Amino acid sequence: MFLKKNQNLIKNLIFNSQKYLRIYRWNPFINQTPWFNVYPISLTKCGPMVLDSLIFIKNMQDSTLTFRRSCREGICGSCSMNINGINSLACLKSLNTKSKFITIYPLPHMYVIKDLVPDLTNFYAQYKSIQPWLLNYKLPKKEFLQSKRDRLELNGLYECILCACCSSSCPSYWWNHDKYLGPAILLQAYRWLMDSRDLGTKKRIFFLNHKMRLFRCHTIMNCSKVCPKSLNPGKAISYIKYKLLTN
Ligand code: SF4
Ligand code: SF4
Ligand code: FES
Repeated sequence: MFLKKNQNLIKNLIFNSQKYLRIYRWNPFINQTPWFNVYPISLTKCGPMVLDSLIFIKNMQDSTLTFRRSCREGICGSCSMNINGINSLACLKSLNTKSKFITIYPLPHMYVIKDLVPDLTNFYAQYKSIQPWLLNYKLPKKEFLQSKRDRLELNGLYECILCACCSSSCPSYWWNHDKYLGPAILLQAYRWLMDSRDLGTKKRIFFLNHKMRLFRCHTIMNCSKVCPKSLNPGKAISYIKYKLLTN
């Protein structure tokens, strides 16, 4: 009786620990339309996060599977992908979901380099366009201090890891990513507007006050819903609009 109970328990454990990862694949060097591969994964054999399972698959099942990752702890922003329909960081997303199947796509509406690796060239060019550095020609030679209150203004902004989960979940960015800066870059733009040490406010506002760069945001708030760092780019965009009116 005791043995049977234990056997059932072990069976249950093994059955519940089995997952199937359905992963989007595309290789520019193979003349073939994109396809899906399904990989069985046992939760008892790999770590608890989606990224652990991808590393396990790459090491043990299919070395051709391609994805980006670095820190494995939600800091570098490189493992962003669409997991079960939601843009997320693979290293912060648990494998322990109710469903046995986990479907993974690259970030939506981005050009794909290979498998789960999106092309972020446009995203980084847009980041550069907002001049993400201090515009201050009177920089002191020593440490450049801020008051505690001024420093607090940067909370909720400086934590952005540029993972692009928000921008690639924004319908306005899907259709106008060549002109509209998107939530991630606009949150960064606001971060520099709010820095008490920056003297480039007029220049920055002149650049942002543009019907395509800024005003394609229609406050749908998909961006704030998906941010894995719990930031609120939609709110930052509203503040930029307000700042345009008051400057
Ligand atoms: S709030 Fe603006 S930036 Fe965010 S998803 Fe909606 S349209 Fe895009
Ligand atoms: S605001 Fe959030 S979702 Fe958007 S890039 Fe920054 S960390 Fe990623
Ligand atoms: S690996 Fe760095 S954020 Fe996921």
